[in-house]
Amino acid sequence: MNVLVVGRGGREHAICKKVAESPLVQTVFCAPGNAGIAQDASIVDIDEMNFADLAAFAKEQGVDLVIVGPENPLSAGITDYLEGEGLKVFGPKQNAAILEGSKSFSKMMMEKYNIPTARYQSFEDYEAAKAYIQQEGAPIVLKADGLAAGKGVTVAMTMNEALEALDDMMLDKKFGDASARVVVEQFLQGEEYSLMAFVHGENVYPMEAAQDHKRAFDNDEGPNTGGMGAYSPVPHISQAIHDQSVEEILRPIAKGMVAEGRSFTGIIFAGLMLTEEGPKTIEFNARFGDPETQVVLPRLENDLVQVMLDVLDGKDPELAWKEESVLGIVLAAKGYPEAYEKGNELKGLQAIDAGSVIHAGTYADGDVIRANGGRVLLVAGSGANPVEAQQNAYGKMQHIDTEHFFFRKDIGSRAIAKARL
Ligand code: AMP
Ligand code: GLY
Repeated sequence: MNVLVVGRGGREHAICKKVAESPLVQTVFCAPGNAGIAQDASIVDIDEMNFADLAAFAKEQGVDLVIVGPENPLSAGITDYLEGEGLKVFGPKQNAAILEGSKSFSKMMMEKYNIPTARYQSFEDYEAAKAYIQQEGAPIVLKADGLAAGKGVTVAMTMNEALEALDDMMLDKKFGDASARVVVEQFLQGEEYSLMAFVHGENVYPMEAAQDHKRAFDNDEGPNTGGMGAYSPVPHISQAIHDQSVEEILRPIAKGMVAEGRSFTGIIFAGLMLTEEGPKTIEFNARFGDPETQVVLPRLENDLVQVMLDVLDGKDPELAWKEESVLGIVLAAKGYPEAYEKGNELKGLQAIDAGSVIHAGTYADGDVIRANGGRVLLVAGSGANPVEAQQNAYGKMQHIDTEHFFFRKDIGSRAIAKARL
C-alpha cells in the first residue's frame, strides 16, 4: 500500500514513523512534512489546505489510504473532498469535525447526551458575557469558540484576568473570527488526562491514556500552549477511571454524533479532568492529540495501518499496548506561545539517536536543521516506569543547545510524585 499523511507537526512525524513500520506499506508520503519527517517518509511539497493538489497527487501515486493529522483541513472538509475523488481517508467529514471546530457545538452535544462537563454558557454579545462572568465570579474559564491552535483558552484565577481575556477575545478580536463567539465555563479542579480513541460510527476503540503539560513553564505556570510534553501510561489514572471515561464520555459522544446525522470516523481526543465527582470533559478534538500521539503510538503493539483499515471496515482491531512508559519533552522557541524567532539552528541533535527525535517545526537548510515553529521538536525517552522514562528523555535532551530554545524540566513529575505518596 501507499499511504499519504497530511500535516507537518510532531503528531504527523509520529504517525509517519508508525506507518513506516507497517509490513503492508510500500511508500509513506507526507504533505508538506518537515525536516525530521523527511527521514521517515517521502516529502511532498503540497500545503494541507490545497485539497485539489493533494487529491491529484494521491491519485497519480496510487495512494490507498490518506491519514489527516491537523484540525484545520478536517474542519475545512478535506475528508469530504478526497472521498469525493474516490480516495480512502481516515478522518472525520466536515460535519463531524465540528466537534472540535466549534466549542459551543461540542458543549451543546455534551449537554444533550448527558456527558459530564463544566457548566457553561456561550455568548456572541460582549455585555451579556461580561454580566455572566461578573455574576459567576472567578476562577472562571473563557474559550474562543473556533480553532485557535490550543491557545484560545484562558483559565482566569481573578475577575480582572477574566475581564481582560474577554476584552482580548471579543473587543480586540485576538483570535479573529474564532473568538467572535466565546464560551464561558465553570473552573474544574482535579487531575487532567487525555484519552484518544479510534472511532467509526458507534464503534469506539480506546487507546491508553496520556498526560500533557499545557502551561509554558515548570510547575504549570505561564500561558497555555499547544502542549510542552507528555507521557503514557498515566499510572495515577486507574483502569476503573479509564473504563468509566470510555463508557460515560467517549461512547456517548460517538453515539450522539451518529444520532445527529454527523457520524464520526477517525480519532476522537477527549481532554478530561478527574474531579471529585468523577471524570469530566474539558474538550473534544477531532484528531490525534499533539504531543500525546508522540508518546502513545510508540506503545501500540498493533500495525497502525491495519488498525485503521479494520476500523473503516467495521472490524474489531483488538488493540494491544507495550507495558513500558514513554515520555516526551517539547523543545520550544524562546518566546513561545507569544512572538518567537524563526530560523535558529538546532545544535546538538547529532548526539541523540534519530528515532527519539520527533520534529514539529523544523526545516533543512543544506546540512543544517533550523526551527520554523513555536514548538520545534520533541525528544522521547522510555523505560519500565515514568522515573526511568524521565531520566532517559532528559539525558538525551541535555545534548541540545538552548541558546534560542527552552523546555520544561518537570515533564512527568506529577506521575512520579503520585507514585511516592
Ligand atoms: P482546551 O483548549 O479546551 O483543552 O483548554 C486548554 C487547557 O485549559 C486545558 O487543557 C485545561 O488545562 C484548561 N482548562 C480548560 N477548561 C477548563 C476548565 N473548565 N476548568 C479548568 N481548566 C480548564
Ligand atoms: N494536546 C492537546 C491537543 O492536541 O489539542
